[in-house]
Amino acid sequence: MFITFEGPEGSGKSTQIALLAETLEQAGWAVLTTREPGGVAVAERLREIVLHDKLTSEAEALIFLAARAEHAHSRILPALAAGKIVLCDRFSDSTLAYQGYGLGLNLELLRSLCTFAESGAKPDLTLLMDLDPAIGLSRRFGAQPMLDLGLQGAVPGSQLANRMEHRGIDFHQRVHKGFLAEADLNRDRTCLIDASQSIKHVRTRRWSEVKRRLPARRKSGGSG
Ligand code: TYD
Repeated sequence: MFITFEGPEGSGKSTQIALLAETLEQAGWAVLTTREPGGVAVAERLREIVLHDKLTSEAEALIFLAARAEHAHSRILPALAAGKIVLCDRFSDSTLAYQGYGLGLNLELLRSLCTFAESGAKPDLTLLMDLDPAIGLSRRFGAQPMLDLGLQGAVPGSQLANRMEHRGIDFHQRVHKGFLAEADLNRDRTCLIDASQSIKHVRTRRWSEVKRRLPARRKSGGSG
């Protein structure tokens, strides 16, 4: 089973992934937790470039996709073949939301390229941590006045980590709308979770979605 976590900045994905991995492992499932961009050495190198170097939008998209192809082939697909549950922090929906809706690259072209890069690794379930980006960014950067985020790169006193976070609030609002639009197009696999709620509430909601999909799947461990 392949589960992806998506959502805007500061939506609490990492916390929820760690909690879910723990719950699944305690229940006897073999779990691989991974992230994008990254997950394998070469993709982690591409991550450094794509998150920190100045790039054209096209090059940025292609690097995210190249990282995904490496990740899918060398980590995700082998883990799925071994019967593991794979939990991935971001995947193709992020490319559509950030590079498609956010940067305005052609969505149809990006969809085809995402399928190409995935190499057959299609999520069975996508948990979209839905959160207003203004809240997400303020969670990440503390009590910074959010209006400042409208000025590219002008967030005083904050420890901005990457290029995405330097982009203005308008960009992040488009990304958020993009996630919702893609969720609507992929209702069969996408589950919206209100990430403005407490960690405990989000955990309960998220677990109910995962749990009801588990029994149809093969358990690893005892059965190999
Ligand atoms: P990261 O620090 O991991 O952010 P987060 O904790 O919010 O996941 O940085 C990943 C950034 O890369 C994040 O801003 C989203 C962006 N991204 C894209 O723009 N396109 C993509 O295809 C992927 C996978 C990520």
